[in-house]
Amino acid sequence: MSQTDSTVAPVSTSNPMALNERWEEIVTDERNRWTDSDGDEEFWAEHVDTYEERFVNKPAGSSRIRSLVGPSDTVLEIGPGTGRYTRLLAQRADVVTALEASSSMANRLDRNLTAANCRKHVEIIEREWPSTDIATHDWVVAGWSLYRQPDLHECLDRILETATQGFVIIDSPGCLPPHRRVAVRAGDTLASPPPRQAFYCGLLADRGCYPSVETVPKTRERRADSKATLLETVLGDAVEDPLAHADALDTWLHEEPDATDGTWCYRYTLPAAVISYVDGAPNQPPGEGENGTQAAPAEVDR
Ligand SMILES: C[S@@+](CC[C@H](N)C(=O)[O-])C[C@H]1O[C@@H](n2cnc3c(N)ncnc32)[C@H](O)[C@@H]1O
Repeated sequence: MSQTDSTVAPVSTSNPMALNERWEEIVTDERNRWTDSDGDEEFWAEHVDTYEERFVNKPAGSSRIRSLVGPSDTVLEIGPGTGRYTRLLAQRADVVTALEASSSMANRLDRNLTAANCRKHVEIIEREWPSTDIATHDWVVAGWSLYRQPDLHECLDRILETATQGFVIIDSPGCLPPHRRVAVRAGDTLASPPPRQAFYCGLLADRGCYPSVETVPKTRERRADSKATLLETVLGDAVEDPLAHADALDTWLHEEPDATDGTWCYRYTLPAAVISYVDGAPNQPPGEGENGTQAAPAEVDR
């Protein structure tokens, strides 16, 4: 995209907020399980079966993706996981390249796409972003997958180089779900999630790139046959006696006697950040977007 042209001077060269350095400190914080690819692979191998169970509504940013990606477009998806976004992309785009680091996730993605009858539009590549040569694509989509990039500046540069039309990044705006807040109060030394959109936007501004940011609510839930099992599922890794913390989570716990997939439900809503950029969009500095292309109007994500 034009932001990486040598003719476009970076807006700031003084690094006033040291965003890349701070980001690296956060993603390499050893309290996080994802600091290296082995730890991450182990985590996904354990959670691949239950990953999609917790999402109640369509993935955050779906409407935005749908408004941007057209039937003749190519898309690189970074970290597709089980394919929540890939299924949507495969229905919209001509070709999707799905770059997935975890072999457990890549296998599940293959099965899920076949079951959803959209496997033929997707090439699955089992490799790490960005340590690989990837051809340019019209769009790059990264849903909740840039959390262990030690050099975010380089990562975003590679996204700008790879995407000829634009990108959509979906990530956390920096908030803990209720069970993790309870775990922290009980002494668990979890690192706080950063407001990732601030890092993306700050570092992209250094490249003369000004994305749109939309914050949308997303509901997640876990279910089990009893309250005790449910509390063990959500808190068992973090506290010794999960049942002792039932009161603290009371607002989000309820019983649904007629449910077939578990009568006890833990449900909460958190915001998600949808960061999108369209090359040549009107929100870019003067001199950019001279080819007259306009951003598609953003749809409200529900
Ligand atoms: C939280 S899951 C998100 C999956 C999917 N995008 C979604 O929103 O449902 C993160 C995924 O990104 C993958 N991932 C993390 N870092 C990666 C990297 N550097 N290269 C490729 N995949 C990566 C993980 O293996 C995992 O499948």
